[in-house]
Amino acid sequence: MKRINIAIDGYSSCGKGTLAKYIAQQLGYVFIDSGAMYRGLTLKLIESNIDISDLPAIESACKDAFFEFKLNQTKDSFELYLNGRNVESSIRNLKVSNLVSEVAAISLVRKHLVRVQQTIGKSKGVVMDGRDIGTVVFPDADLKIFMTAKTTVRAKRRFNELNKAGMEVTLADVLANLKKRDYIDSNREDSPLQLQGDYKVLDNSNLTIEQQNSMAMEWVQESMQH
Ligand code: DC
Repeated sequence: MKRINIAIDGYSSCGKGTLAKYIAQQLGYVFIDSGAMYRGLTLKLIESNIDISDLPAIESACKDAFFEFKLNQTKDSFELYLNGRNVESSIRNLKVSNLVSEVAAISLVRKHLVRVQQTIGKSKGVVMDGRDIGTVVFPDADLKIFMTAKTTVRAKRRFNELNKAGMEVTLADVLANLKKRDYIDSNREDSPLQLQGDYKVLDNSNLTIEQQNSMAMEWVQESMQH
């Protein structure tokens, strides 16, 4: 079987990570959450008190940021380390969530992170999820999946997730954040989230995880045979 790269793009909180992780486990591939890298950089800017209009400071923050994904065996998931420190939980808080789309709209940030992501994908066998993976990072990916679900369904899922993790948020806050991010991600000038070209569309508003997984695995098998 040939080794391929798989791009999974779509709106916030559609379950892209859950699907990407499942496919990667099935194939023994690496799973990369590209959004975590934008979040990690946002955390770095917040902690260093760098304003998002200060481009020279942002550029040097990019150069100083070293990303690694390490497997947490207990949770059976990959966690982001920024310069050797586990930041998996800090990058998910609402402070980071509220700023990350603005940071991700900055061209020099995108250029830098896209380069890092393309290096990771060079040897193939990568499942990467994000917003521009099939359009910019791996335009030649053998399989591109575009995930979507109704806004209210996504907000409820994310709210339950944050609640479970012990974060005190309201459903209204989560919904507002989601709508704001969808808007910025889809309307920014540099590589906006767009359903264009050769994506397979997966709307999981009314699908169980098992149904979604088997739909995606059929596409994976097809792509590996071509
Ligand atoms: O997938 P996520 O919600 O963790 O992503 C966080 C933010 O980063 C999201 O608002 C959009 C941005 N992002 C991006 O612009 N390009 C990517 N490839 C991944 C994420």
